[in-house]
Amino acid sequence: MHVLILGGTTEARQLAELLHSASDGGLKLTSSLAGRVASPRLPPGEVRVGGFGGADGMAAWLREHEVDVLIDATHPFAGTISFHAARAAAATHVPLLALRRPGWVPGAGDRWHEVGSLAEAAELLPTLGSRVFLTTGRMGLAAFAHPAADDLWFLVRSVDAPEPPHPPRMEVLLDRGPFTLDGERELLRRHRVDVVVTKDSGGAATAPKLTAAREAGLPVVVVRRPPVPEGVPVAADPTEALRWLQERLDQGGAA
Ligand SMILES: NC(=O)c1ccc[n+]([C@@H]2O[C@H](COP(=O)([O-])OP(=O)(O)OC[C@H]3O[C@@H](n4cnc5c(N)ncnc54)[C@H](OP(=O)(O)O)[C@@H]3O)[C@@H](O)[C@H]2O)c1
Repeated sequence: MHVLILGGTTEARQLAELLHSASDGGLKLTSSLAGRVASPRLPPGEVRVGGFGGADGMAAWLREHEVDVLIDATHPFAGTISFHAARAAAATHVPLLALRRPGWVPGAGDRWHEVGSLAEAAELLPTLGSRVFLTTGRMGLAAFAHPAADDLWFLVRSVDAPEPPHPPRMEVLLDRGPFTLDGERELLRRHRVDVVVTKDSGGAATAPKLTAAREAGLPVVVVRRPPVPEGVPVAADPTEALRWLQERLDQGGAA
């Protein structure tokens, strides 16, 4: 049986580790990475890097490599690849599961402003503060090179260094989660941050910034997630994904 995991997330790596140890070598496991991060943490099993060439390219890859099950464990904001996975799975009749960590939920004391896109976040920012902690990743920085954001100062945290276009006034902090609450408190204090911007990525690794912002009474602009493609079953964590896979095997094979 050949399982292809579309990865690039902690959960994808954890699922590969779970499958690798649970299968006792009786499973062919391939993880696919987009190739955006210079030195990614690699999962066990085979790893392929780079795009497939759209949904048709992915369908061809599934056929050529005789994939039995496809698991889309990409980041909740990687909407294009998830849409391609749904189309490729439908075209090849390969069962597809989406592994998506649940989104964050605001609690008492949170001052969240939910928006539909990074562009909307950039437009809202000047009404909320002037020293911004931007944690939406280096790929979407162009949205903040917007004239409405010219008077703002940004602390940009990303895994790899961002490339232009980016906001004119910014400091870059190269780092990768998990982050601690003490660390996030200190960061907000040291840089005199007065507004935080995040995607609703969910998960514990990057959630402490939300607690630190709540404690400091800071507004947080939260970018909503794109939807999971219609009809695709969703597992909330790697264990649930493993159970789904086990159920398919118990029912007599994947396809
Ligand atoms: N977006 C985020 O905030 C975010 C955060 C953390 C990690 N990531 C990870 O970074 C990767 C890229 O994210 P994105 O937002 O740029 O994705 P995207 O916009 O959904 O995908 C753009 C294109 O990149 C290629 N691609 C994406 N993920 C791939 C994968 N796992 N394996 C092979 N090709 C892939 C596909 O190219 P083709 O059409 O040529 O197949 C896809 O059409 C994803 O794997 C995601 O899990 C994203």
